[in-house]
Amino acid sequence: MDKIKIIGGNPLFGKVFISGAKNTALPIICASLLTDEPVTIKNIPFLSDIKSLNNLLLQLGTDISVNEELLNGHNTQTITYHTPQPTSLIAPYDFVRKMRASYYVLGPLLAKYRHVELSLPGGCAIGARPMDIHLTSLEQMGARIEIKNGYVVADTDDRLKGAHIAFHSASVGATCNILMAAALAEGTTVIENAAKEPEIADLIRMLNKMGAHIEGENTSTLTIYGVKKLHGVTHQIINDRIEAGSYAVAAAITKGRIELINANPEYLKTPLDILQKMGVKIELTPNSIIVDAQNAVLHGEDIYTDYYPGFPTDLQAQFMALMCVSEGASMITENIWENRFMHVPELMRMGANINVHGHASAIVRGVKKLSGAPVMSTDLRASFSLILAGLVAEGETIVNRVYHLDRGYESLEEKFKAVGADIERIKEAD
Ligand code: UD1
Repeated sequence: MDKIKIIGGNPLFGKVFISGAKNTALPIICASLLTDEPVTIKNIPFLSDIKSLNNLLLQLGTDISVNEELLNGHNTQTITYHTPQPTSLIAPYDFVRKMRASYYVLGPLLAKYRHVELSLPGGCAIGARPMDIHLTSLEQMGARIEIKNGYVVADTDDRLKGAHIAFHSASVGATCNILMAAALAEGTTVIENAAKEPEIADLIRMLNKMGAHIEGENTSTLTIYGVKKLHGVTHQIINDRIEAGSYAVAAAITKGRIELINANPEYLKTPLDILQKMGVKIELTPNSIIVDAQNAVLHGEDIYTDYYPGFPTDLQAQFMALMCVSEGASMITENIWENRFMHVPELMRMGANINVHGHASAIVRGVKKLSGAPVMSTDLRASFSLILAGLVAEGETIVNRVYHLDRGYESLEEKFKAVGADIERIKEAD
């Protein structure tokens, strides 16, 4: 298993190109299953989660052709997915276990081919991660659903039927799955309390280009007028707001200045606002965000994770690392996941002063310095927070279990090296 070694202390200066959004690419790739025509998706990041999903689609019978393309000065993947007729309607355990977003095949396969078998993903490091909203919504649309041997087995004799569905939580995954299912259903579906994340709006734009009729983009009530057939499309996905927010914190924590090329400030209003309140300067240009913390005296702030446009849970760990070395106290309330403070004991091993109260709140009291240590990452975003802590710690930090980072951060060491970090990957033969 690879490790990352960091020698802390270098302020980071320069430009970071922000990649295509992983959490947009995943549902959008699965939306290609809604048509038997080719679907071309541009700006797909080079990530292991994308490889895992491609492997699942290959086993369903999708033809996949990958081309590299330079977009706005950044090397990206343009991938064409073509599924004239699936050879399997089963998403097996080994695929779903590796990448839980494999569950995005559920809505498209059921809507188009009227049968799907999906291994239940189960929980993960950040919490139980239930799928009840996905399943009860599909039942409301006329699907028969059974859980057999760890699999969801879903069937429908005819097209799914439009329904009026109210989600009990504004789930990103369920909103995507039900949007895709309803696009090919008979009649009109209304989703109340839908998620409003930018990833959802991008999926809606792509589905509408394929011939779907969806209204309510960027609101919590979505109306989907079902159509009989969807056609092929070329679609360029948005850039990754969580990657941009993560590198924004890297500039802040090292007291450097980083220009985040191709980042969209619209998607980051709440986290950028917090950074400004903490003492960081933010400048916007037509295609970038400049994060400048040179000579800044950073002080603590409170954050409360929430559904978009609230503070994203996927930036909570990174901001916690920053708060560890900011003056005064910060309170972090995690409102989305029940177990998302796994990075706390690791940050404390580096000298952070954090008190966790129950499952949902943590008080961080700023310390003058962190010191390098071997640390273990538990999930994707927690891993990045340990890298951030390592960048500012005295001495050497070794971050173990780097495979988490490879799931969601494209060319991490290259991007960090380009802005002056002392970072390297240590490859280990098992
Ligand atoms: C997505 C993101 C993940 C992010 C999360 C919240 C992807 C691939 N992952 O995950 O990085 O942290 O949004 O922004 O896009 N819930 C239920 N029942 C369900 C579904 C969800 O109770 O059927 C609850 C969850 O327990 C959680 C909340 O709803 O408390 C949000 O979950 P959801 O938005 O579904 O997260 P994901 O789509 O899995």
